[in-house]
Amino acid sequence: MTTDFTVAIDGPAAAGKGTISKAVAAKFGFAHLDTGLLYRAVGARVLGGGNAIEAAKTLQPEDLDRDDLRTAEVAQAASKVAVIAEVRAALVDFQRSFARRAGGAVLDGRDIGTVICPKAQVKLYVTASAEVRAKRRFLELTGKGEVTSLEEVLADVKARDDRDMNRAEAPMKPADDALTIDTSDLSIEQALETAISAVNARWTSA
Ligand code: C5P
Repeated sequence: MTTDFTVAIDGPAAAGKGTISKAVAAKFGFAHLDTGLLYRAVGARVLGGGNAIEAAKTLQPEDLDRDDLRTAEVAQAASKVAVIAEVRAALVDFQRSFARRAGGAVLDGRDIGTVICPKAQVKLYVTASAEVRAKRRFLELTGKGEVTSLEEVLADVKARDDRDMNRAEAPMKPADDALTIDTSDLSIEQALETAISAVNARWTSA
């Protein structure tokens, strides 16, 4: 079996990256890293009064298991620390060594196909309209008991898109050789089928 097989899945918040990444990992037996958690863990430390660069440099794998990383407040804090070049640089090695795991790895984020793993065997860019993504995130947050409105979530999604796409360091964008999957009008099954067949085409020939 090939020891170094990486699937890079990038795209904006709530486009379906997480669902697709988990399904691809389960289907092919790959390890999965949600790289947004690294930035969320740093963002959470900053909300707790810490320094962003220090937090990134001292980040431990157990920090990703904190159960308070999925809130809207932490998401915004994450996208603010993610513009800092030193924060991004401190998180590179962890992500690249994860990608080199024997047996294959799926990493999802914003810059995996462009910066972290430019040689990934499969690159997907999963996107959807801001309105569709806001609605999905609204249902997810209210389902977990967060009090918010659709308007507020849409404004948050747009603010985060804007920061993620327009930062100088590793801006969110599809890699030139990425397959874009727009999930706005796709069912989960259709999106998964597209992603799995793209991986399958490379994995069976690897
Ligand atoms: O994917 P998630 O919504 O958890 O990401 C939180 C934030 O972390 C994003 O809005 C983005 O600013 C940042 N991020 C990043 N690069 C990655 C993953 C996440 O800049 N590879």
